Amino acid sequence: MDAPSRPHARLRPEMDALEESKIVEVWQLGLGRQDLIRLWVGESDVVTPPFIRQAAAAALEAGHTFYSYKRGEPELRETLAAYINRLHGTPARPRPVASDRITVTSAGMNGLMLVMECLIEAGDELVAVTPVWPNIFAAARILGGVPKPVTLDLTDRGWSLDLDKLFAACGPRTKAMFVNSPGNPSGWMLTEAQQRAILEFCRRRGIWLIADEVYDRFVYDRAVAPSFLSIAEPDDDLIVVNSFSKAWAMTGWRMGWLVTSHRFGEVIGKTVEFNTSGTPPFLQHAGVVAVRDGEPFVKEMVERCRVGRDLVHQALSASPRVRMVRPEASIYAFFKVDGVTDTVQFCKDILTRAGVGLAPGEAFGPGGESCVRLCFATSAPKLSEAMERLMPMLR
Ligand SMILES: Cc1ncc(COP(=O)(O)O)c(C=O)c1O
Repeated sequence: MDAPSRPHARLRPEMDALEESKIVEVWQLGLGRQDLIRLWVGESDVVTPPFIRQAAAAALEAGHTFYSYKRGEPELRETLAAYINRLHGTPARPRPVASDRITVTSAGMNGLMLVMECLIEAGDELVAVTPVWPNIFAAARILGGVPKPVTLDLTDRGWSLDLDKLFAACGPRTKAMFVNSPGNPSGWMLTEAQQRAILEFCRRRGIWLIADEVYDRFVYDRAVAPSFLSIAEPDDDLIVVNSFSKAWAMTGWRMGWLVTSHRFGEVIGKTVEFNTSGTPPFLQHAGVVAVRDGEPFVKEMVERCRVGRDLVHQALSASPRVRMVRPEASIYAFFKVDGVTDTVQFCKDILTRAGVGLAPGEAFGPGGESCVRLCFATSAPKLSEAMERLMPMLR
């Protein structure tokens, strides 16, 4: 006999309304299948290299297992500051970032959520360039924020941002602007001139600027993507999010960092206490080794992605139904397929019939219609096999 129905204790309405990611909806269909080529999430098939794994094992063995600094081990913050300054220092600003502006987080996602917790009140608007990684809007919504998408335009030369459109989307309730460059899923990248204009606008309007630079190493025609850190002042209301996940193949480690003003960093440090209370110290020891000694590995990763990008671009360009501009950055091909209106169903069909896991474009908000995302950070033989399986479904 059924139990008599009784009223349930209530969730916050924001949690009742929280939708499952459409990427997960497709992913679940593939659970338990061994024959799939998995190109749906943003990671490569490379295991974290041995020198980083060994550093973590040694730190664990040495007993680095206690509660530690909320904002990260001083050695890791110093190492990150030196790394950032090497990448983003300019003749005018050789050392733009001091270690007191860095907070180590339990990966990029945790960094973003900490930022949202500090900034977003119910009804606050978050203006964001789309198509965008769906977790951004979800994080704002959990706090009662209201996402305001500003869509990139797809031109023959690639995705392009109309700054007037971006600025026009900012109103009196706009609390923060979110820009992810190089972009997931689009592979688009801001120019330094655009960054200057955006920073200037946010200063003038008193809007927080959240810059997600997680893919800054994955550029194919220059050494590193332009960063807001090269042009900003130390006390700007700028938050730069980064992660160990992509460049050092450490997605499962859950380690990242934020660069903020010193003042806001102190607020973030208090917030860390009530979330994770800090990132595991033995992981942070390995983080020091990754950043200090990992440059040859990062270059290998970028080369692997360059090969993957070119392979995928060449194969897909042969289909008259596919519209794809070769991405200048990131680890993703994001292409339109003629005649596809329901991208979730399309990805499910591809999964079932071709055994290739792709992410549906509509998961990424406005601009993602008719599109599919493929992560090309995987080995060339696997990508070639995926292309062979995919092409018959794209004719
Ligand atoms: C744009 C963007 N930002 C942040 C992240 C967060 O990565 P993680 O939480 O693994 O550091 C991702 C992951 O795919 C991403 O695509």
